[in-house]
Amino acid sequence: PGTTLALVALLAYLLGSVPFGVIVTRVMGLGDLRQIGSGNIGATNVLRTGNKGAALATLILDGAKGAVAVLLAKALIGQNDAMQLAGLAAFIGHIFPVWLKFKGGKGVATFLGTMLALSWPVGLCICATWLACAFLTRMSSAAALLAAATSPLWLVPFERGDLLMLTLVLTALIYIRHWGNLARIKAGTEPRIGAKKQA
Ligand code: G3P
Repeated sequence: PGTTLALVALLAYLLGSVPFGVIVTRVMGLGDLRQIGSGNIGATNVLRTGNKGAALATLILDGAKGAVAVLLAKALIGQNDAMQLAGLAAFIGHIFPVWLKFKGGKGVATFLGTMLALSWPVGLCICATWLACAFLTRMSSAAALLAAATSPLWLVPFERGDLLMLTLVLTALIYIRHWGNLARIKAGTEPRIGAKKQA
């Protein structure tokens, strides 16, 4: 069982490492994502190419990495702890991908996919928080930071206290990855969704 768990965690990491934003952007002939906007590999930055379809595809594919990792652990091991570990491994893969010399993304889509697969009601509430904040502030990063910070609260009504540790770890990593965004939000220079150029 220990070997299966290690194998699932490794597979989840490798899956999480696949930089779909970079791949989608390149395949669609939109350029090198790391030379565009913030240089980040996520859906928000793909949107700065002006191609909404490419951004949506990146969001779904990066989210699916977390969800597939959780479901893989569910199918092969069937234990809650293993499912959480797989989600964490996929998330780590996205932010520290072996394919990009460990320079990865900020983890928001993969976080959403992981949470949806672990508990769809909790996941939906986190997505709704992101959407509401994005609608109000027009800042993807602010929406991500608020959705992550409030995510532990949604565990209460759905009685998923078992997900608290994972939620806290993922939230902490999301904050660490958004340090630059946080500074720009404070300075009032964070670009709004729809603006193509990085401020
Ligand atoms: O999901 C990443 C988002 O929160 C910020 O992306 O490109 O604006 O730094 P970006």
